[in-house]
Amino acid sequence: MAPSSLHLLTLSFLLLLASTPISDGLELGADGGGGGLYREILRDETVRRLKELGQISDGEGYLERTFLSPASLRATGVIISWMEDAGLPTWVDQMGNIHGRFEPANSSKEALLIGSHMDTVIDAGMYDGALGIICAISALKVLKVTGKLQRLTRPVEVIAFSDEEGVRFQTTFLGSAAVAGTLPESILQVSDKSGTTVQDVLKLNSFEATAAALGQVKYSPESVGSYVEVHMEQGPVLEALRYPLGVVKGIAGQTRLKVIINGSQGHAGTVPMKLRRDPMVAAAELVVTLESLCKEPHRFLTYDEECGCFTEESLAGLVCTVGELTTWPSASNVIPGQVNFTVDIRAMDDKVRETIVTSFSRIVLQRCDDRLVDCAVQHKHSAPATPCDPELTTQLELAARSALSNTMTSPGGGGGCSAEAERTPPVLMSGAGHDAMAMARLTKVGMLFVRCRGGVSHSPEESVLDDDVWAAGLALLRFVEHQNVAAAAEEEEEL
Ligand code: GLV
Ligand code: MN
Ligand code: MN
Repeated sequence: MAPSSLHLLTLSFLLLLASTPISDGLELGADGGGGGLYREILRDETVRRLKELGQISDGEGYLERTFLSPASLRATGVIISWMEDAGLPTWVDQMGNIHGRFEPANSSKEALLIGSHMDTVIDAGMYDGALGIICAISALKVLKVTGKLQRLTRPVEVIAFSDEEGVRFQTTFLGSAAVAGTLPESILQVSDKSGTTVQDVLKLNSFEATAAALGQVKYSPESVGSYVEVHMEQGPVLEALRYPLGVVKGIAGQTRLKVIINGSQGHAGTVPMKLRRDPMVAAAELVVTLESLCKEPHRFLTYDEECGCFTEESLAGLVCTVGELTTWPSASNVIPGQVNFTVDIRAMDDKVRETIVTSFSRIVLQRCDDRLVDCAVQHKHSAPATPCDPELTTQLELAARSALSNTMTSPGGGGGCSAEAERTPPVLMSGAGHDAMAMARLTKVGMLFVRCRGGVSHSPEESVLDDDVWAAGLALLRFVEHQNVAAAAEEEEEL
């Protein structure tokens, strides 16, 4: 098809989405809430399942589920049963990702992939990752119970990625990078704190754990049309705007470092202050310096006319965090011998992030020299900023708008008020990393954000309104339906 006719087709499909009710199977409820079965599956059952998955934990009294941990394996069984309940044949790939896929007969169309991650941080909330997986399963379940699944013209696949947070191996996206085909073979030799490697963990769980097996997880770019992800916002913008859903324009780039500082271990009571080589004070100084570097970059870095770096705009989203600090031997009466800490640096502008990484690494070496301790900076992870596909973003925006006109019921609760539903969903940048970043190496990506209370995430305090869960599921359902309407129209055009 000529590009111009494709463009026209897309345009007419978008107009159709904006102007017509989509569901022709079940009637929407008279309460304007998309009632009955839609509400039961997309809100009530989704919320019940979020709570159920949120109980599957390696920790006692808190939520923790890391790559291929015992809880993760239990969660795998539960997610598979939900995918099957939605009418999807399932399989688990060689990196522990769970797939549930509807494959129409005789379709030559590229697949629509929808996913998010099943792993969590330590002491997590129940929505980060899980919301995107369960909303997707629920949307497909609605298609199944309304008899529309079998009428889909394009393959649609839900993927629950085995690792996005990178908690266990300090390297993110083990699951989605494997599907995108960008996970290096060397990953198999990376070890966790106990010395267990990725390869050991895979073998222990009866995966092949070879480079060839990793290669089989990769999808060919020709077989995939797009990837979309629903995710809680993890920030306060939607709540401040009183809007339940937003679309994502792009995801900030990120770098993770590990700083290792070795000094002289000694007796806290006997070594005079002047004779100490104390890695703890060097670490403390560096943590504060990192904060200043990211809070007031102009104090440390000069504006570069040529690259346009360090303008107010390019500094948007620059954040730096030390989230983990360990000390050896960690006793109150011992000057530590070694202190290690992690550094997480994010920015929307890759040049800004790279300059901060270089500057901080230089400062580490200088300060360590001054304090006569030995330092090393290890690069653990780096991902460039990822733009979302503008066309997918427009389609998600229209689907969100259409869903909100059916789910918004009460001012302040649910989705706000109907006047708000008229407004276009806000367009946001994501400071948090998502599987969409890894999947962008394979295909075009789009993301839908869901409002959360207080912008809180990576905490048991995470909270999303049940009605916002419903709105997200309905928006995804409508997006999937229209992807298929478009696929069918394209097919017709080709004949
Ligand atoms: C993942 O949640 C990240 O942004 O670190
Ligand atoms: Mn997270
Ligand atoms: Mn997440």
